Order: sequence, then C-alpha cells, then structure tokens
Amino acid sequence: MRIWAVANQKGGVGKTTSVVTLGGLLAERGKRVLVVDLDPHGSLTSWFGYDPDTLPHSVFDLFQHQGKVPEGLPAQLITDTSSPGLALLPASTALATLERRMVGVEGMGLIISRALTQLWDDFDYVLLDNTPSLGVLMVNALAAAQHLIIPVQTEFLAIKGLERMLHTLQMIMRSQKNPLSYTIVPTMFDRRTQASIKSLNQLRKTYQDNLWKFAVPVDTKFRDASQAGIIPSQLDAQTHGVRAYRHLLDDVLARTGAMKERQHG
Ligand SMILES: Nc1ncnc2c1ncn2[C@@H]1O[C@H](COP(=O)(O)OP(=O)(O)OP(=O)(O)O)[C@@H](O)[C@H]1O
Ligand SMILES: [Mg+2]
Repeated sequence: MRIWAVANQKGGVGKTTSVVTLGGLLAERGKRVLVVDLDPHGSLTSWFGYDPDTLPHSVFDLFQHQGKVPEGLPAQLITDTSSPGLALLPASTALATLERRMVGVEGMGLIISRALTQLWDDFDYVLLDNTPSLGVLMVNALAAAQHLIIPVQTEFLAIKGLERMLHTLQMIMRSQKNPLSYTIVPTMFDRRTQASIKSLNQLRKTYQDNLWKFAVPVDTKFRDASQAGIIPSQLDAQTHGVRAYRHLLDDVLARTGAMKERQHG
C-alpha cells in the first residue's frame, strides 16, 4: 500500500480536485484506490454525492475507536464512488469537534496511520485529502503518508501560503526519523495572465528539487466533474487538465518508486 497526502494550509488551491483526479486515474489503471476525506467541510465526500451533515459513519469513527478499525467497519464505513476501483472513506461534520476533544490525548496523531495498517491488504493506493489548517487531522495525514503532494495556485498569495506549509512540515518532521518527501504542484495555471507566469517562474527559481516541472492548467472541466459527481477523466479523458494530472501521476510514481528502491537497496 502506498499512502500519499495532499495538503496545503492555504484553501482553494486544488487539493480535493487533485485527490479525485489522481485517485481516479490510478483506479482506471486497475489499482485498488481509497480516497480519505480528512476535511470537516467534506468537499471530497460531497463530490461523490454523500452528505457530510447526515452520514451515520465516517472517518470520525476511527478517532472514537483510537484508530482500531471496529468490526465490520470496512463494509459500513468505506463506500463506493461513481468509479469502479475507487472507494471513499467519507468525512462528517462531526470532525470539526475533534480539535477540542483530542487536545492532550496521547497517540491522537497516529489514528489514521493505525487504521490504514489494518487495511493494508485491501488497497494499493490511499490518498488523503486535507483541511486547509494545521491541526490534529493534518498531523495524522502527515504521519501516515509516505509522500506529500502540495498543490499551489500560481498566484502571489498562494506562494506565501506555500512557505507557511513548508515551515509546518519542517516542524512536524523534526520528530520523525525519515523526512517526508514532497512534490509541489503548480495549479490553475493560466498562461494568458502575467500573474500566473510570474508566479510559476518564482516557484521555479525558489524550489527546484521538489517542484513538479509542469503545471496543471485552468480547466473548467474540473468544476463540471465535481458537479456531476464523477472523476474528471470520466467526464473528458483528453481535456488538458486531466492530461496534466496523468503526466503528474507518472512523475510522482517514478519518483516515489525510485525512493522505495533506494530504501530497500
Ligand atoms: N485546474 C483547475 N482549473 C480550474 N478550476 C479548478 C482547478 N482545480 C480546482 N479548480 C476549482 O477551484 C475550486 C477549489 O478547488 P478544490 O476544492 O480542489 O481546492 P481545495 O484546495 O481542496 O479547497 P479547500 O481548501 O477549500 O479544501 C473548485 O471549485 C474547483 O473546481
Ligand atoms: Mg478541499
């Protein structure tokens, strides 16, 4: 099982869109994929037509059981999506109360990691969608993940947000033995605007090693797909946004595959 987190403390940069598109593409390649909604707003959950306000079971259950997957949980908790091969562990709005409840409770940062260990044989890939704020949920995602994808909108304020995210990452990683590898992904790139071009150039100057060398373009098909409740590649397999994510997926797979070999070799 390979676990990737998609996170950025800045909101609206394309995190949820990246999780759905990359997850969908992996499923299309025959992989067994689980996408996990760790955002109390539940955008990923809503994408697939579930209502985070009324769901009886959600990722919240895992926190109530200290990360032990309760008996019968996979069947109860993990739901289908419109895509074969792509399963969803949904969020409920109850997740918003976690920060208050979990303060000072020992081991609360490892709930997701523990739960995924129990699902190790059921999925090939797990993608964790995150809320745009640092808290117990993001700490869980970073502790569970083997690779982090950081979408960054190609505009000035978003680049400021990226600095904050990398600082957070450094703080959290100080307590871990193996530093988490990450890929910064420029998103919503509009080659007709100076703001986009300048931001991309600045990213390239500042973050060479961990920056994906291309960018996901602005593409209205992503919003259309979320409205239709399907993965973007199902709506239009050849739209330029989906093609960019396909390319990104190949690059992240190559990069994380090479890292894995280094670790074992
Ligand atoms: N490449 C893109 N081109 C055009 N629109 C996009 C693109 N990526 C995402 N969007 C749209 O931008 C909005 C924000 O995207 P998304 O929800 O994926 O961001 P997010 O980082 O998950 O936001 P939040 O922080 O609120 O969870 C959505 O309406 C989505 O459809
Ligand atoms: Mg989101």
